[in-house]
Amino acid sequence: MAHTDHHIQSPIGPRVTIDSREVDYFCGTGYLCLQSHPEVIRAAGDVLQKYGLSTAASRGGFGEHPVYDELEKQACRYFDTEKALFFPSGYMGMSILLQTETTANDHIFIDSGAHYSLWDAAQTSTKVTTVFRHRSPGDLAEKIRAGLQPGERPLVISDAVFPVSGEIAPLPDYLSIIEPYHGRIFLDDAHGAGVLGEHGRGILDHYNLISEDVKTSGTLAKALGGYGGIITGPAEWIDRVDQSSGVVTGASPLPLVTAAASAKALEIARTNPVLRETLRVNIKMARDGLRSAGWDLEDTPVPIICLPSRKNFSPGVVCSRLIEHGIAVDHVRNYTSTPAGGALRVAVCALHSADQITRLVDALSDSA
Ligand SMILES: Cc1ncc(COP(=O)(O)O)c(C=O)c1O
Repeated sequence: MAHTDHHIQSPIGPRVTIDSREVDYFCGTGYLCLQSHPEVIRAAGDVLQKYGLSTAASRGGFGEHPVYDELEKQACRYFDTEKALFFPSGYMGMSILLQTETTANDHIFIDSGAHYSLWDAAQTSTKVTTVFRHRSPGDLAEKIRAGLQPGERPLVISDAVFPVSGEIAPLPDYLSIIEPYHGRIFLDDAHGAGVLGEHGRGILDHYNLISEDVKTSGTLAKALGGYGGIITGPAEWIDRVDQSSGVVTGASPLPLVTAAASAKALEIARTNPVLRETLRVNIKMARDGLRSAGWDLEDTPVPIICLPSRKNFSPGVVCSRLIEHGIAVDHVRNYTSTPAGGALRVAVCALHSADQITRLVDALSDSA
């Protein structure tokens, strides 16, 4: 995504100030609007006052801290898991999984529309890598059939939810393809964690799946309202990942201030399921409204709505027109998963009012 000249001058939420003007905000990834929650801000402020910004020590040194203990406790409760591992950015999640969880015979199959972080991770893993067509189980099956060498085992890597197109990876199809080969699937759940599934735990929750063959990494920086990458699972496994990852061992741990904010945001997300329910209602209202106005959209629980460029619809022109009408949406040209020619990316959040969604739908109706 190119940098823009626009500046946000307020906390993020359903309405923000951009370039000194208040607008309805349908951008970004703060789907539960927790980043600006007063309790999250207070938690960060209290820890900043009490302990300063960070420990400036690795957790293997004197870097252990009650703030990290609280973050781990909240993450385990949220994800209903034994243990959680944190690292400085969700971008590193796939690198950590590939660094710690692959063996010599893994052959990576990567979705052609995968996020930058997956391409970097695959490249640095130095494993044999084959690209399969975006979200195509048929092409994946074909590529495995044609490309897997004797003794190799397939390792499929993909975004769980694609950041611009908003599409969900067809995980059950992938699982049935890799099963006969005893393969595995690693998913980057950056946009699913906090949103998808009954408990908002992400893609596995969405498909109601428990599988030893699927590993996910996530981020606290989007729906979950904080900052930092996260991998959760059984204690024994997390300990192994922790001890064998160069990134986890060698990078400074999360700043205490963001760890404290993340812990509070996770607690709020878990104890206020109404936030997720409202988000779901808002997503449905926006998708149904745009469909009624003539847009071809799937009925999914993803807060990212993608309106691709086509004849008589120029995302750049419409984006500028909308901002004139007091509505901010993203015009995306070249981020991963962006359709050819660019798209308008509309992000729905839990705190949008019905009036705001109606205004958005009305403003986009004559473009459908
Ligand atoms: C699919 C995907 N994975 C990973 C990331 C990076 O996560 P983080 O911002 O926590 O580094 C992003 C975007 O930020 C993303 O869209």
